[in-house]
Amino acid sequence: MMKQSGLILLGTLLLLGACSGCRESEDNFDKEVAKACAELVRAGFRPVAEERSQRFLGKVQDYTALCRGGRKALEGRDQPWLDWRNYWGTGDASSLSRELLGIDHLGRNSRGVDGALLDLEYQRIELIKLNLFDNAGTYQEFVTGRDGVGGPALKVWKAMRLPPDHPRYADVGGDGEQLCRGDLIRHRTLTGVCNDLRNPLMGSTGTPFARNVQLSTTFPELDADELTRNRHGDRLGPLEPDPQVISRRLFTRAQSQPESCNDGLGLPDWSPEARCDYKPASFFNVLAAFWIQFMTHDWFSHLVEGHNAPEMMEVGCTHKLVDGEQVPLTEAEIAELGCRPDDRMDRSFIAQSDEPPTFDFGGQTYLTRAHKTTANTVTGWWDASQLYGYDETSRRRVKRDGEDPAKLLLVRVGDRPGAGEDQGYLPVFQSGDPIHPSWAGQEATAFPDNWTIGMSFYHNVFAREHNLFVDEFRARAAAEPDADSGLRDPARPREVIRMRDVTGDELFEAARLVVAAVIAKIHTIEWTTQLLYDEPLFRAMNANWSGLFGSHPLVESALSKIVSQGLARSEEVDLTTQWYSVFASGPGIFGLGSHVYAGDAIFSKYDKSKTDVWTIENPNHVNGGINHFGSPFNFPEEFTTVYRLHPLVPDLIELRDWQEPNAIRNQVPVITTFRGEATAAMHERGGLADFALSMGRQRLGLLTLGNHARFLQNVPMPRLGSATDRIDVAALDLIRDRERGVPRFNELRRQYGLRLLTSFDDFVDRSLAEGSPERREQERLVGVLREVYGQHVCDASKVITSAQVNADGTPITDCLGHPDGSIVDNVEDVDTVVGWLAEFVRPHGFAISETQFQVFILNASRRLFSDRFFTSSFRPELYTHLGVEWVNNNGPDGTVMEAGKPNGHEMEVSPLKRVLLRTVPELEPELRHVVNAFDPWARDRGEYYSLAWTPRPGAESDPAFNGGR
Ligand code: HEM
Repeated sequence: MMKQSGLILLGTLLLLGACSGCRESEDNFDKEVAKACAELVRAGFRPVAEERSQRFLGKVQDYTALCRGGRKALEGRDQPWLDWRNYWGTGDASSLSRELLGIDHLGRNSRGVDGALLDLEYQRIELIKLNLFDNAGTYQEFVTGRDGVGGPALKVWKAMRLPPDHPRYADVGGDGEQLCRGDLIRHRTLTGVCNDLRNPLMGSTGTPFARNVQLSTTFPELDADELTRNRHGDRLGPLEPDPQVISRRLFTRAQSQPESCNDGLGLPDWSPEARCDYKPASFFNVLAAFWIQFMTHDWFSHLVEGHNAPEMMEVGCTHKLVDGEQVPLTEAEIAELGCRPDDRMDRSFIAQSDEPPTFDFGGQTYLTRAHKTTANTVTGWWDASQLYGYDETSRRRVKRDGEDPAKLLLVRVGDRPGAGEDQGYLPVFQSGDPIHPSWAGQEATAFPDNWTIGMSFYHNVFAREHNLFVDEFRARAAAEPDADSGLRDPARPREVIRMRDVTGDELFEAARLVVAAVIAKIHTIEWTTQLLYDEPLFRAMNANWSGLFGSHPLVESALSKIVSQGLARSEEVDLTTQWYSVFASGPGIFGLGSHVYAGDAIFSKYDKSKTDVWTIENPNHVNGGINHFGSPFNFPEEFTTVYRLHPLVPDLIELRDWQEPNAIRNQVPVITTFRGEATAAMHERGGLADFALSMGRQRLGLLTLGNHARFLQNVPMPRLGSATDRIDVAALDLIRDRERGVPRFNELRRQYGLRLLTSFDDFVDRSLAEGSPERREQERLVGVLREVYGQHVCDASKVITSAQVNADGTPITDCLGHPDGSIVDNVEDVDTVVGWLAEFVRPHGFAISETQFQVFILNASRRLFSDRFFTSSFRPELYTHLGVEWVNNNGPDGTVMEAGKPNGHEMEVSPLKRVLLRTVPELEPELRHVVNAFDPWARDRGEYYSLAWTPRPGAESDPAFNGGR
């Protein structure tokens, strides 16, 4: 009953918005819209798909589009792309309805934004329901269930037990029921075991990457089933189409002054005269590019200590497609392309390659895992393992301060001015440290691979943040030594640990928890809301963190109650999986289950008037807030694919001096700040303040075709000992995806519940004026896609997928809706990375494509839902009282509000801005103007989600706004 009333409440809220605007309609158009809204109300909510073929696909009915976005929303409905991008209020000021400017709660703009949120929630529910495919040995039970419990409601798996040879096997219960306890539950463990108390192995170092696509669709090159053969014919191979040819023809940045760019090497001595053209994103800065590299180093890695498997392989630059045949490239063609047939690379590590066992269920045969698997060589948790380590070797690279073991070792470098300089820098690796020789000269940290100036920046900043937390704790301990620190030892759970009694190790681990949570918060509510710069995503991401209806306590508490009725523990599989995510958007995912009130819900929100009975003694409290939706957590292989974001990186960094912010002092080739040279640059040519300002002001590269850095196609790789000693990283992105069996773009879209493309022309943004330079460029690139991937005569008898059907219910065939025997584009063969880079049509302010975004919706939510340290274990008993306060308030000094109402919202000063104000305080005069640390710092944010590239007052003389870069 409670469940039902909650659904009705949620529904009424969203539909009421639809009606009230209708009543006020006056002219014909308004009447048309009113009629559409009435139809929408009559139709009610669409049901969540029971099976793949019924999925939402981000496409709504005509009346829904009209009600939420007027005529504009009707246009483009025949294209594959998401409909909500045309709703009212989802773009910049021009998307706001004339009816009511601003986002009220009843008018058109609200219908548009709420409608977009509802569309997003449908997609998340269906993704959770239909896209979880574990590779670690639990998938069969997900399909068949166990002991009468449906697979998606299962919470404990044999495959997630610690094996007998694990050093902590006996501690968790050995061959009996396994349950983590004692020191294993107090903080994030080195290898990530015991995040989930009852599934100790989950997410730990070395466990297999999962998948988000039907297992039979992985590794299309293997031609393992009929659908795959029908989809691709014999056109695919590990090096077909040729990856270096794709890189050079579709990824290379065009240069207006090639000699001033010098393939990304710039001019001698970092001359400011150097110039490398790139397509910049006006609303996202270079700090954001390196932020995501910093994040990926925490989440996943396929390499072991910077290495792949020992065997070497060719990497293309040998063939091109002519009339459907692969023909060798001539010397002249190779020279013209600028690729290198003699490049070599080490193959990927493959964990399992024997044919997976199959099982039958409901008349179908399933694979128990993908044809091959690979292992995540770091922890899958968002635990700052790039800073603190993920195994014994990486931990030995982390230097603690000899004088205070709670701290990381930081040392003063030089005598540069700046209030933050005394906080110091990470020390450099010494001989004896366990490192690959190519990492010599870099700052000492756990994950040193592909070290860039951006990695140097963030590792130093968060090491300072760690130490500032310790300093604040020590200061409070000195002031009130007998006060309760908040910490509890599971061995003596009722004993208060006083501030004075907290050991160095305990404080170190609490600081790690805090730093990891601060990072997750920055990523969720600051980085992502700038990556996806529009109102629906601002609300959605804040909902993920702190609740959708933060300003509506009544709704929030209603939703919280619904969650509390035990949905997470329900065996009603559909309800569990479909609605849990909606309801969690009520109270927010972060901190879910971290307060427990007698006789009340496990997911109750913090309530001062009640007695919180949460205790570290009760595993159901410690572990109670998590939900894996029936599939143990690890990132899927497809997640790595959509984070191959190499075009974000410019060739040159515009180096500035923080004391003279409007001038560009040098043009620094990024490749001259690679590996140990990043550390040298940070120490000798500019400190944290200079690089923060430089990367903060500079725009990053758009994720689109023709926008890979020149230097990335020529990265020096001496460790390979190949004839060229270099590698084209852009080509490697394609090869790695093929080695790891990522489906090609069109099938990947179908698998993720997005509409397929039927020709390369679908990529072209038809809202652009015909003949406009932008549209002509898109049409040119589509022409190149056709040349590189080719066309074929189609055969309508060949069914190519089981993931979707045509609108009329017929199967999708090799002809993609075109007449049998016609010539169709080989759109099925497009590599996934190429496909998402070619998506020119995107929602407003989206720095990534909608396909990447779809992968993100599912996994960004899951890595919060599955991690007890972000849900039920976000507690003073583990974080300390100061730690909880620090994460909630973005620092030690309470809530600090941003001036004004950016984009109409009262907001707290954003978490990275607060971190920078603490760790690099000399930046205060610059940061005063910044709302989001990832928006170019000197850009005038203008009105409602403007993307304009104009300077804020005081930055008019900055050459970046005057054609210079
Ligand atoms: C100077 C800048 C960068 C350089 C030189 C660089 C270099 C590389 C190289 C050499 C690899 C291939 C490793 C292999 O498979 O053997 C790689 C992989 C990768 N890079 Fe970058 N990268 C840079 C920046 C970035 C950025 C900004 C991102 C943004 C997310 C990124 C994301 C990735 C991802 C996701 C992989 C795949 C990792 C895996 O397979 O587990 N990189 N990078």
